[in-house]
Order: sequence, then structure tokens, then C-alpha cells
Amino acid sequence: MKNTGKYASQFFAPSGVSMDWVKKTQITNPPIWCSVDLRDGNQALIVPMSLEEKIEFFKLLCKIGFKEIEVGFPAASETEYNFCRTIIEQGLIPDDVTIQVLTQSREHIIAKTFEAIKGAKHTVVHLYNSTSVAQREQVFKKSKEEITEIAKFGAELCKKYREKARANGDGEITFEYSPESFTGTEPEYAAEICNEVIKIWEPTPEDKVIINLPVTVSHSMPHVYANQVEYMCKNLIGRENLIISLHPHNDRGCAVADSEMGLLAGGDRIEGTLFGNGERTGNVDIVTLALNMYSQGIDPGLDFTNLPEITKVYEKVTRMHVYERQPYSGQLVFAAFSGSHQDAIAKGMKWRDEKNIDVWNVPYLPIDPSDVGRVYEADVIRINSQSGKGGIGYILETQYSLSLPPKMREQFGYHVKNISDHEHRELQPSEVYDIFLRDYVNLTANVDVKKAVYEERGENVTANCVIEIGGKEIEHISYGNGRLDAVSQALSALTGFDYTLESYTQHALEGKSSSKAASYVSIKYNGEIYWGTGIHQDIMTASVKALVSAVNILIDAHKQN
Ligand code: KIV
Ligand code: ZN
Repeated sequence: MKNTGKYASQFFAPSGVSMDWVKKTQITNPPIWCSVDLRDGNQALIVPMSLEEKIEFFKLLCKIGFKEIEVGFPAASETEYNFCRTIIEQGLIPDDVTIQVLTQSREHIIAKTFEAIKGAKHTVVHLYNSTSVAQREQVFKKSKEEITEIAKFGAELCKKYREKARANGDGEITFEYSPESFTGTEPEYAAEICNEVIKIWEPTPEDKVIINLPVTVSHSMPHVYANQVEYMCKNLIGRENLIISLHPHNDRGCAVADSEMGLLAGGDRIEGTLFGNGERTGNVDIVTLALNMYSQGIDPGLDFTNLPEITKVYEKVTRMHVYERQPYSGQLVFAAFSGSHQDAIAKGMKWRDEKNIDVWNVPYLPIDPSDVGRVYEADVIRINSQSGKGGIGYILETQYSLSLPPKMREQFGYHVKNISDHEHRELQPSEVYDIFLRDYVNLTANVDVKKAVYEERGENVTANCVIEIGGKEIEHISYGNGRLDAVSQALSALTGFDYTLESYTQHALEGKSSSKAASYVSIKYNGEIYWGTGIHQDIMTASVKALVSAVNILIDAHKQN
């Protein structure tokens, strides 16, 4: 793409900022959270939410722990107005939750807004007008002075309506002002217009005003926005009487960074949405922001312990879809398909268990998936053709109590990987288990030991076996330096494969009702290793079955087709 000069910077990097905030490495306190899902989020939906859907979403936001919720633009539509009235009249607003309503600086709109909030215990009335160069020149065709007059007019009216509401003994009202398109506004002018509004509203430390600094459209890198925030903090009158609120949109994909740096630079409050829904590329994703803090040991004050349920309700009422790779909430964000990642995670989890450590430092997992309601078994180790022995072995061990010897894990890992590769799909843990049972356990298709009676003289064992081979049962006596060895001699003699018995391990199978054992046997033939598994209540029988399985696999491998 050739730079034709079409794009020039539309942002204003303020001068006179210290950038001291850069030295901070962490946010130490959570901001005041304000959800704008029901207003900014809703106005960006293909089909805006119905009254019932808004109520369901509102209840969800309260349950998550939001104490400030922008419920709409009541003068903008009937649904918005009705929603506001419904939650007030039906007593759906918890005592500790403040609703927020948006209004333009026009008399009939402000009047309708105040009418909509009658009876609410505490409301933030959010006044805005657009201040950027582009909006002043192209949309409003007004000078700075004229734009300031719009803000002052709205501020005066809001003040008048609040006085009336107070006189009527209505609920508490806090004011918020947004110089909309702030990031495209000269910082000096943004401070000037906000100061005019502040002078009218006369905030105090007990009755603060919220000054909201929207990244209506993002035009710059996050540190530039943070500098704009620092500039405003320094140039607004009576900083101690103000709550500085940040409202980043995500046009450059930097809304989270804008918010985090903006908080370091002096912001107190965040307006955003769940999963970053909102106009165009969305508002800042509060889930990501909050869980970023959580992952650094800060309690964000919002409860995302059941994120899958939150996602479900959100997707239902908004008809949006949470992207599979959306931080923390996407379906695949904890999934490890690749063998090396699975191996590291499996080892990390084992290390945690063995060392009994509290601090979370498992490789590849930024937070413990179970903290946000994810199921480790289903969400983390996922099997496809990229997977390997670590993950596949981990699934068999943790979900089916099968501890395969390391070399067998490796072989089975390749086997599963190949199946997934050929079928070109992911395999579920139950399918991995079924493949294991089908291809390695208690196999008898070519040969089987139907009976074995042992006579032991010290180390020397005689095995009296009945072996089924080629559809016939044959009695055979053989000798070995142990029971398994004696049976192995019989199998070797009758199948004609001169293999050697290489290894043998076993363990009890943990299960509520089962008292079975699993045995793993490997045999070597022509330099190749063949593994088999036996599962049975009797340990010796399990071992023989493991051996028979390995011999069956050996025979299959040498069949002419
Ligand atoms: O993005 C924006 O500028 C807004 C304002 C109304 C605050 O949503
Ligand atoms: Zn917005």
C-alpha cells in the first residue's frame, strides 16, 4: 500500500506533560467500573435488545458486580425510555447500583431524560457534545466558542433540572460531561470546554463531577492518549472534585492498552462493555481489563468466576458471538493443541501438585482456567494432529486413570496424531480413550490365551496353556523364568514370531467400583517395539492379556494385505 498522503495524524500530542506515569509498572487499584453495554453496546447491535433482553442483561451486569451502569439514552427511543422506567418502577435497581443516562445538550432531550429517571435512588446524568476539529468544521460548522456555548447551555439546564429534582425530594444525581471525539480535539480546547462545564456544576469532594475522556475514534498510540489524560488531570480546575473517566473505543485494537495507560496517567474510572461490544470495533473489553488486573494479583472487584455462563447470556441477548480467541473468554484461549505446549502444561500441573505451590506459574496459561469457570479437562488439553505424547498421556492419566509407560505414551501419541491427521479433525478425550481400548487393550483377534496353569519351582515356571490360534484351541506346555515369560514362550512358539519380552509394568486402576489392574507389556521383534495393555481384576491375567495384546499387534503389523 502506497502512502499517498491521504492519511495525516488527526491526533494532538499535548505538550507540558511529564510522562511520569511511564515509570509505573502496574495498576494497583481497580478503577470505578461503568458498563455501557446497554447504551453504547446496544446502539451498535444489528438488532438492538428488546426490553426483556435489556432487563436480563442488566441483571447480569448487577450480578457481575457493576455499581455504575449506563442504561440508555432515554430520549432517543421508546424502548430506551421504557426500559429506564421499568427498572425504576419494578424496583430492579439494587440499592448500591447507580444507573447512568446519556443526553445531548438540547432542552427537550434533557427534559425527557430527567423525566425518565424520576424515582431512581441515584443517577449519573451524562451530558455530551462533540468537540473535535473534524466535527466542529464538518458536522456542526461552528467555532470553538459556539461549541462551548452548546456545552454550557446543557450544563446550565442539567443544573436547573437537578435543582428541581432536589426540591421534589427525588434521588441523588451526579453529573458527567464528555467532550465527545476528545482524541481529535486540541488538548487546550478540551480542557477549556470541560472547565466551563465544571464552573457551572461547581463540584466538591463530596459531590464530584465525572469528566469522561472518550476515545470516540482512536487516532494515536496508547501512550499519546495517556498523555492527553495526564494533560487533562493537570489542567482541569479542582482535580480533587473530579472523577476522570476513560472511554476508549478500539479502532486501532488498542482499547485495553489505552485504558491501562490512561489509568496509570491519572484516570479513575472506566466506561466499557463486556467482550468489547460497541460501535465499529467496539468499546474497551472490561473482561480483559479486569482479568489483566486479576492476573497481576489485583482484585478487580468484578466477578468473572463463571465466564462461560456470562458469555452464554451475552450471546443470547445481543446476538453477537464471542470470538474464539477473545482474551480470557474465547472458547480456545486456554486450549493447547501443540505437543510441546501440552507437554509443558502437563508437567507444570504435576509440579504444582507435587510442590503444593500457591503462586500460579504454569507455562502457557496466563491464569488458572478454573478461576473463570473453565474446565481444565475439556478446555485445555485438546487433541488434533498437532498434539503429542504429553497431552494424550495426560488425558488418559487424568480422565481414565491410565498411566502409560513413557515409551508407550510416545507410541500411542503418534498413533492418535495420525488418526486425527487422516480424519482431519479434533478428537475428543473419550475418542482418545476409545482408540486406546480398541487398538491396545485385551486384543485377541489373532491369538488368545484361553487358560494357563502354572507350576513353579523357584524361579522356573512351567505353564500349561490352552491357546486359541487360527480358530483352533491348542494345548501347549512351555517353560520360563517367571509366569509371564513361560506364557510368552508358548505364544512365541505357536505364532512363529521369535520376539523377546522387553518390559512389564502395572498399576491399580482407580475407579469407584472397579478394583481392576492395568498392565503394560512391550515385546521386541526385528528391532521394533510392540506395546500391549491388559485390564482385568486379576493382576496376572491383566499381564497375560497385555502380552497377548502386544503379540496380536505384532501379528497385525506383519500381515500381508
Ligand atoms: O464514544 C463516545 O464518544 C461516546 C460518548 C457519548 C461518550 O460514546
Ligand atoms: Zn462510546
